[in-house]
Amino acid sequence: MNITIIGSGYVGLVSGTCFSEMGNKVTCVDVDTIKIEKLNKGIIPIFESGLELMVVQNIKNKNLFFTTDLSEALKNSEIAFIAVGTPMGDDGSADLQYVLAVAKSIGQSMQKRLVVVDKSTVPVGTADKVKATIQKELDIRKSDLQFDVVSNPEFLKEGVAIADFMKPDRVIVGSDSEYAIDKMKQLYHPFCMSRDRFMSMDIRSAEMTKYAANAMLATKISFMNEIANICEKVGADANLVRLGIGSDNRIGYSFIYPGVGYGGSCFPKDVKALTKIAKENGYTAQLITAVEQVNDAQKLVIAQKIVNRFGQDLTGFTFGIWGLAFKPGTDDMREAPSIYVIKELVSRGAQIKAYDPKAIDEAKEHYLKGVQNIMYVTSKYDVLKDSDALVLLTEWKEFRIPDFEQIKAQLKNPIIFDGRNQYNAFNLEEMGIEYHQIGKQ
Ligand SMILES: NC(=O)c1ccc[n+]([C@@H]2O[C@H](COP(=O)([O-])OP(=O)(O)OC[C@H]3O[C@@H](n4cnc5c(N)ncnc54)[C@H](O)[C@@H]3O)[C@@H](O)[C@H]2O)c1
Repeated sequence: MNITIIGSGYVGLVSGTCFSEMGNKVTCVDVDTIKIEKLNKGIIPIFESGLELMVVQNIKNKNLFFTTDLSEALKNSEIAFIAVGTPMGDDGSADLQYVLAVAKSIGQSMQKRLVVVDKSTVPVGTADKVKATIQKELDIRKSDLQFDVVSNPEFLKEGVAIADFMKPDRVIVGSDSEYAIDKMKQLYHPFCMSRDRFMSMDIRSAEMTKYAANAMLATKISFMNEIANICEKVGADANLVRLGIGSDNRIGYSFIYPGVGYGGSCFPKDVKALTKIAKENGYTAQLITAVEQVNDAQKLVIAQKIVNRFGQDLTGFTFGIWGLAFKPGTDDMREAPSIYVIKELVSRGAQIKAYDPKAIDEAKEHYLKGVQNIMYVTSKYDVLKDSDALVLLTEWKEFRIPDFEQIKAQLKNPIIFDGRNQYNAFNLEEMGIEYHQIGKQ
């Protein structure tokens, strides 16, 4: 099949590359000329395991193309995916300007019948807006070209994006057109070989499914963080409570680790957008609002523990940070808790020594740009020398079983603040390391 992906960011690039891997001819379009030039040379703008190899191979096989020219890309395409960003607007709702700009360009340049797919996460009712925008442009052109608009939200997880896309839990397709559903079934057939993962429904339910999924996962995280905070007050151990409740298969073990809160490009903005969608439709989403409030507070719990231990004024203290990315396996720092923790510590006069396996450039160039008193180092043990304590913020595999003797020997004070509850299986107190974790006094 000949398809176009518009927006070659995280979702667009992964989806386009995986579709090309299955033998489709895929053209990825972006307005960012530098990004497209790099992609044409096989240089990948993000870190995602396995992606680079797949991109290079499919460019070589002439299945994957990159361009800034949408009209050229659409010439032979049967399906066009919209995969541009839907960032948080000033009022908390999803900003649809990029999606609607793409819809307008599609209406101006499509040359044959097209299935237009909203892959971006968009509020309920967006497909209608996309449809109206395309139709308006076709009317201006006095064209009677046919098109369908489909909602196909994406559920990939950064860090394991290729595996998620290749073997999705489900493929949600919302449409009122049999033609479009048929096309989408054919396109996704190679990804649904072992069992049927394709679920078709009406457009609004498909749009809502994405928000409901992210809000549910964020709710689990905030719920467990709230339980952890109560555990600290009453002298219980949140990690034992986690095991105790996770063993109930109605609850399960996933997404109930107490920690520094959720971040990333999706949960924060999607949770906020959902409360906004509800409000615009006359409903106050109390639970979802609380999920966000708990998370905002949770990002600073570890900083508060540091203040409790070292005092309000952190001038003269240095903290070694392990992990900057919002989660392991990615260099993405959008809304990463590390940003909030580091800024809080620096605002109190602390010096920071930070290490992350992949996200240092992102921190330096974007998310912590201009923040004073941060030194970046290239190995995890380099953060230790002259630091007063070690603070773990992202659970990369290389931090799972560190050399505790080395940590103890190199830190000025043998103290660990564990924002991801990674070390509670080790008897750190016995090793002479002062250990602070989330959800235990
Ligand atoms: N990142 C994730 O893990 C993830 C997962 C599921 C869903 N989503 C959703 O997918 C959408 C895209 O997210 P992302 O993380 O890939 O965003 P991103 O910011 O990484 O990429 C968006 C890309 O769109 C390009 N773009 C903007 N306007 C354009 C235009 N008019 N024409 C062509 N390209 C244009 C930008 O230059 C950028 O490269 C969002 O709605 C997001 O919520 C993201």
